[in-house]
Amino acid sequence: MRGILRAHDVRDRTVWVADSFQGIPDVGADGYPGDRRMALHRHNAVLAVSEDEVRRNFRNYDLLDEQVRFLPGWFKDTLPTAPIDALAVLRMDGDLYESTWDTLTNLYPKVSVGGYVIVDDYLMCPPCKDAVDEYRARFDIADELIRIDRDGVYWQRTR
Ligand SMILES: C[S@@+](CC[C@H](N)C(=O)[O-])C[C@H]1O[C@@H](n2cnc3c(N)ncnc32)[C@H](O)[C@@H]1O
Repeated sequence: MRGILRAHDVRDRTVWVADSFQGIPDVGADGYPGDRRMALHRHNAVLAVSEDEVRRNFRNYDLLDEQVRFLPGWFKDTLPTAPIDALAVLRMDGDLYESTWDTLTNLYPKVSVGGYVIVDDYLMCPPCKDAVDEYRARFDIADELIRIDRDGVYWQRTR
């Protein structure tokens, strides 16, 4: 996303990178049943990528600058107070019901009308789909869900 801003010489937008940088949370005994079943935290040896490594990857492409800002920590802790006013694109890749729900409740209201929501795991992780479907039903979001590939979907916010 930072590369697209660079390619189009856009200088007034920010790419926010929100991640625990320590992998997927263990939702525990009270967690959403589908999240507990997947227990993805067992794969954190692969899924956890440090903030240093992510910064290095941006730097390797000469894309690490003041237009990239990091929100390290669990979504439930970082997103409620994230200093974000408006989002043109909300791209979610948190896998779990809990992670998707925390992202939608805190950030969807900030997606501009005309903006886009991309859900990487909708067709791959049933708990992620559950969260998206529940959120869309609860807030009466009827914008068409468009399939991207085997895993992902997106919609454009129209109201
Ligand atoms: C499947 S990985 C995708 C990472 C990255 N988007 C990519 O494509 O390489 C899922 C990411 O979501 C993060 N994550 C999942 N749930 C989270 C939560 N509740 N709070 C913070 N980070 C979370 C994990 O740390 C992990 O980096």
